[in-house]
Amino acid sequence: MRDLILGIETSCDETAAAVIEGGKKALSSVVASQADIHKEYGGVVPEIASRKHVELILAVIEKALGDAGKDREEIQGIAVTNGPGLIGSLMVGLSTAKAFAYGLGRPLIGVNHLEAHLSAVHLEHEAEFPFVGLVVSGGHTSIYLVKGYTEFELIGKTRDDAAGEAFDKAAKVLGLEYPGGVAIDRLAREGNPEAIRFPRAFMGAETLDFSFSGLKTSLVYYLRKYPDPDGERLRDICSSYQEAIAETLTEKTLLAAKKFGVGSVVIAGGVACNSRLRALAKERFEEEGITLRIPSPALCTDNAAMIGALGAAKLRQGETSELNIHPYSTSRPRYFRGRGMVSGL
Ligand code: KG4
Ligand code: ZN
Repeated sequence: MRDLILGIETSCDETAAAVIEGGKKALSSVVASQADIHKEYGGVVPEIASRKHVELILAVIEKALGDAGKDREEIQGIAVTNGPGLIGSLMVGLSTAKAFAYGLGRPLIGVNHLEAHLSAVHLEHEAEFPFVGLVVSGGHTSIYLVKGYTEFELIGKTRDDAAGEAFDKAAKVLGLEYPGGVAIDRLAREGNPEAIRFPRAFMGAETLDFSFSGLKTSLVYYLRKYPDPDGERLRDICSSYQEAIAETLTEKTLLAAKKFGVGSVVIAGGVACNSRLRALAKERFEEEGITLRIPSPALCTDNAAMIGALGAAKLRQGETSELNIHPYSTSRPRYFRGRGMVSGL
């Protein structure tokens, strides 16, 4: 089926729209990043993010339609992230999507941002279900058993900080710029990953949960003892810290794959751009004879192509949304008497 879906994403600080054909092909993918604006503040400022989304959203959608060479009337469904994310930011994308859906008389498809990160894989590869999917982003670190295009079972998650948060907070205490993961990745390339032994919270084989707050604390203690690192020592810290995160993520995901007996694994989300995580996971999964798919970097960080991919699959299953759905901030929406959702604020 060659359905055309317009995907819209505004959950954090990227305003994005894309046109997806047949659930597998991105005809266009436009991402307007606000990173340079939030850099000044060392992190995302929710109110500024919402205002920027309002300014950019229509132009981004028009560009996505233009790049795809499609008129809005040709679109068969509007897919939009309705959570988890920043409520004000989500509301901009969601309200716009509702207006398009209502105005064009097309179905609205509310999409979970984390499930969409994993659905990015369908834009580049044929999926082998079931697979274990690790989503590593700024706000979440979650493992899913993915049984079909729209069937996601949460099997593990972080109990405190997300992996991206661990990168971003470390970068902040090291005086590096936002987004911290990118800065640490760059410096780590010339550092020694074995210089400092930061803790790995594997937490035993019985759980598929993660914990990164201890790692962050150990860096803070290390810096109290050895303050103001620069040059080679800074590169060694970045490399050793990154190694601890990459190893924890890889080993837990491997454990999940073995526990559920799957032969295929997907790693997605912004942190999946990390060069060491990509290399280590490739090496370990190859050794174990498990197929590993990591989307291209542009499909790992926030984008709307992944929203359109999951939206297309949901539309095919008849999983459309009412026009009164709400945005939600936490990973699991709470349902309110079967009528839409209430935000998890
Ligand atoms: O998925 P994403 O774009 O947005 C969220 O949904 O949160 O992920 C953003 C996160 C940030 O924490 C950023 O520091 C991290 O992804 N990130 C990286 C790299 N590129 C982005 N972390 C480590 N290494 C990278 N190369
Ligand atoms: Zn994301």
